[in-house]
Amino acid sequence: EKAGYKHFMAKEIAEQPVVLADALRHYVQDQHLNLPVDFTGVDRLTMVACGTASYACHVAKYWFEQLAGLPVEVDIASEFRYREPPLSPTSWALFVSQSGETADTLAALRYAKEKVAKIVSVVNVPTSSIARESDLALPILAGVEVGVASTKAFTCQLTVLALLALKAAVDRGRLDADGLAKHLADLASLPGLMNHALGGGDYPEIAEELAEAQDILFLGRGSMFPIALEGALKLKECSYIHAEGYASGELKHGPIALIDARVPVIVMAPRDALFDKTVSNMQEVMARHGRVLLISDAQGVAEAGSGCWRTLTMPQAPDFLAPILYALPAQLLAYHTAIAKGTDVDQPRNLAKSVTVE
Ligand code: F6R
Repeated sequence: EKAGYKHFMAKEIAEQPVVLADALRHYVQDQHLNLPVDFTGVDRLTMVACGTASYACHVAKYWFEQLAGLPVEVDIASEFRYREPPLSPTSWALFVSQSGETADTLAALRYAKEKVAKIVSVVNVPTSSIARESDLALPILAGVEVGVASTKAFTCQLTVLALLALKAAVDRGRLDADGLAKHLADLASLPGLMNHALGGGDYPEIAEELAEAQDILFLGRGSMFPIALEGALKLKECSYIHAEGYASGELKHGPIALIDARVPVIVMAPRDALFDKTVSNMQEVMARHGRVLLISDAQGVAEAGSGCWRTLTMPQAPDFLAPILYALPAQLLAYHTAIAKGTDVDQPRNLAKSVTVE
């Protein structure tokens, strides 16, 4: 069942290039998006989910807003449903769930029904309650995910959301055929980049040292901020080490007080337009003797890696897709740190794969 891997989590991390390519084949045909949606006239998107799925929504917010100019609100389901948020009849609500059975997400969907123009869900289990109760359910095609910590479902959720954002950009007149073709070619390169990323990096050695820490911080800016949140969630659920993700620019507004020589700070920063800003936040950490693990591409590591405790070099990726690629080091750090700690990686204490209670 584990196909030679020690844990389902390791197997599911390794499967990502293959399942992501499956999802792309399903939704992209002959340079066209095979998505039965039309965003014309939609003036707002409300996205709701829990945990890792909510971080996929947070990344997608950057895409929908930047590529399609469509305003997006993201909320965690357990807050959304009790806040009684006003929803406009010209908006859509989008629910993201691996299991399709998460009680809070399902309740949020029921709340949104009749209040919005369309209920769309992005699910891994097409027969699930959330899929059945949606106007349109888009499968992420990740295959069965057994490990409690979500890995391949997350990157497949991101892929389907990226395609939806491209569809919105086309429908809203923000992206022409050439622009779409370029983004689709970039997406098609992603499985190869993921294979490359999965092949490198001295994760077991880094994890030995992370396993000694009491607290670990993850920093990211822009669409890398939700990946920092995901890195922290994955690490804490798998290794039981306290971890937090912050937007790099927020550091000086409080969390920098935590930094000393014992606190590893994991900085997720591809060499993009925000890189210099993130590097200056990273230098503030180093000035306080924080141990920085910089995750960047070769150019980023060459420019800013000196003085870092450790570096991990990712393949160069198109800016738009970097958050999907950088999910992999987040998962691998959590996995290997859990191994170093000797925790039950596939079945962490106190957690269930499908959370059907509120
Ligand atoms: C974390 C994790 C959880 C789930 C969350 C939502 O690794 O797996 O945070 O993402 O419980 O579950 P679904 O996607 O089934 O609604």
